[in-house]
Amino acid sequence: MLDQHQKIERNSILLLIFCIIVVSIGGMVEILPLFRLETTIEPVKGVRPYTPLELVGQNIYIREGCSLCHSQQIRSLRDEVARYGHYSLAAESMYDHPFLWGSKRIGPDLARVGGKYSDEWHVAHLIDPRSVVPESVMPTYGFLMNQGADLNHIPDHLRALRATGVPYTDDMIENAYNDAITQASGNTDTSGLRKRYGDKVIARDFDGQPNFISEMDALVAYLQKLGTDVDFRDYDPDMDPRGKK
Ligand code: HEC
Repeated sequence: MLDQHQKIERNSILLLIFCIIVVSIGGMVEILPLFRLETTIEPVKGVRPYTPLELVGQNIYIREGCSLCHSQQIRSLRDEVARYGHYSLAAESMYDHPFLWGSKRIGPDLARVGGKYSDEWHVAHLIDPRSVVPESVMPTYGFLMNQGADLNHIPDHLRALRATGVPYTDDMIENAYNDAITQASGNTDTSGLRKRYGDKVIARDFDGQPNFISEMDALVAYLQKLGTDVDFRDYDPDMDPRGKK
């Protein structure tokens, strides 16, 4: 047996061929079953696609490179769960294209920052982080207050996301522009918006400038939504992440 093996070890071409055979068997065992699955993500109740305004906010988050300093993934480790809340579920980022899990935490994880602070706090913090957290090293983003949110391309964005599998309906695409305006003003009839995206959608003037839909509105709308889809009230902290006690 060892003699045979010596042959392989001394002939690099033969070794390469056997390596390829072994690796491809392993690859097939791992990859082929995935083609037979509709999805590898377990569906979780409450997870919904972003509203048009939140999407614009996500675009700003990407443009400004927030994910260079902030992750959006809470690992199933005790200290992370104690600090940030329930560990992230795969389903919670299933509509993120691109996903924004990040790999660096110069600032805290933001996967569940939604509802943690008031809109006023976020606005003050983004304008000047040091005004609320004196030791902060986060850059200032006050200019977002003066820049109008780009609402004209929203329908195209929804269409593009639909092509990747996000379940946006024709109704959502048709009303995308109006839904964004409704969500950012909050004082108009929100029933259509809620019908399309669910009762939990937060519709209000986020940035304190009622007659202007700024990039700040969109970004804060996005931040306030993060991690709020799933209801974790009946979460058992001793539960194993794989679902076993
Ligand atoms: C250079 C790194 C850096 C960048 C870029 C950055 N942040 Fe931060 N961020 C921090 C640090 C450090 C903190 C913690 C101190 C503080 O609260 O200001 C923080 C805190 C935060 C918090 C409060 C989180 C909490 O749970 O207390 C939010 C929200 C936030 N950042 C949002 C953003 C957004 C949105 C962007 C992009 C527009 C951004 N950050 C860009 C470094 C950064």
